[in-house]
Amino acid sequence: MKVLGLSFGRKLMNCDIMIKEALMVLKERGHEIKFMNANDYDIKPCTGCIACTVSMMMGAKNAGRCVIKDDFPIIDDAIMEADAVLLAAPTFEVATSGLYRTLCDRMGPSHDISFRKAAIEEGVDVDKRSLKHRVCALMSAGGAITKNWTDLAIPTMYPLPMSLGMDVVDIIQYYGAMAHHSIVHNTEILERVRLLAANIADALDNFEDDDKRSLWRGDEGGLCPVCHQNLINIIEDGAAAECAVCGIRGELSMENGKLKVSFSDKEQARSRLTFAGKLEHSTEIKTRAAGPDQIPDLKARLEKYRW
Ligand SMILES: Cc1cc2nc3c(=O)[nH]c(=O)nc-3n(C[C@H](O)[C@H](O)[C@H](O)COP(=O)(O)O)c2cc1C
Repeated sequence: MKVLGLSFGRKLMNCDIMIKEALMVLKERGHEIKFMNANDYDIKPCTGCIACTVSMMMGAKNAGRCVIKDDFPIIDDAIMEADAVLLAAPTFEVATSGLYRTLCDRMGPSHDISFRKAAIEEGVDVDKRSLKHRVCALMSAGGAITKNWTDLAIPTMYPLPMSLGMDVVDIIQYYGAMAHHSIVHNTEILERVRLLAANIADALDNFEDDDKRSLWRGDEGGLCPVCHQNLINIIEDGAAAECAVCGIRGELSMENGKLKVSFSDKEQARSRLTFAGKLEHSTEIKTRAAGPDQIPDLKARLEKYRW
């Protein structure tokens, strides 16, 4: 099967090495591998024009395509071709890197499978590969010696697999890269990367079985059972909790001095990592967003801001 490894790090540094280490394992397992570094491509930021989503709703030709002229279609095509996607991005300013987030925005609404599925069903000219199953692994390399300097990195990497409906089966947050200079002589983390690759190979071996393919194979833990992260928003003055990655609500409790959040099966099923969760959001956009023609006296209201 086809495995794409996409690095967002410096040439031959931590992210590149994690991706290449994993790809070598997957090659040994008989898969076709492709390595790319996003820094080698001209990827401009999303301007927010929403031509991509509007074209899908209006049934235009080549719908869902971005109108910006740059190298994005090269990365888009590589992801569309892949059965498995390995992503590794540096931790910058406690979160993922700007370039990674730029790709999230460019892949975001335009590739959201709930929009694309509806368009395909209506006979709109959309890339048919959009609805293919894909498995994914997320990796981040942080220079910091203190783990909490990496806290938002993996959570902010999630929107890319989320939009495409890719099954995230394993995650690695590597930190302390400065202390090691480079991951290349850190045998423990390289071993963990090889395990991640084996987990991807296992998901590919079970590709046709929806439950087995999407099985979580990463480390135990994480307060959220869907994304396995600990990024919990305390809402309603402390009466409830929400997973910031999945957008699902849980009940807070203390058990043996430990904070627990229980998410019902119903809530887990509407995580934005699931198709149902994305459909909830795209339906909200399609039915409840007010267009400019619904704002009375729009031209006059805008007048005082035209300076
Ligand atoms: C702009 C910038 C911000 C950074 N912020 C953090 C940070 O908040 N936490 C952290 O662990 N490392 C931080 N680092 C260090 C990088 O995560 C580290 O150099 C990492 O190894 C980069 O990945 P690469 O080696 O694949 O290029 C930062 C580096 C830069 C250049």
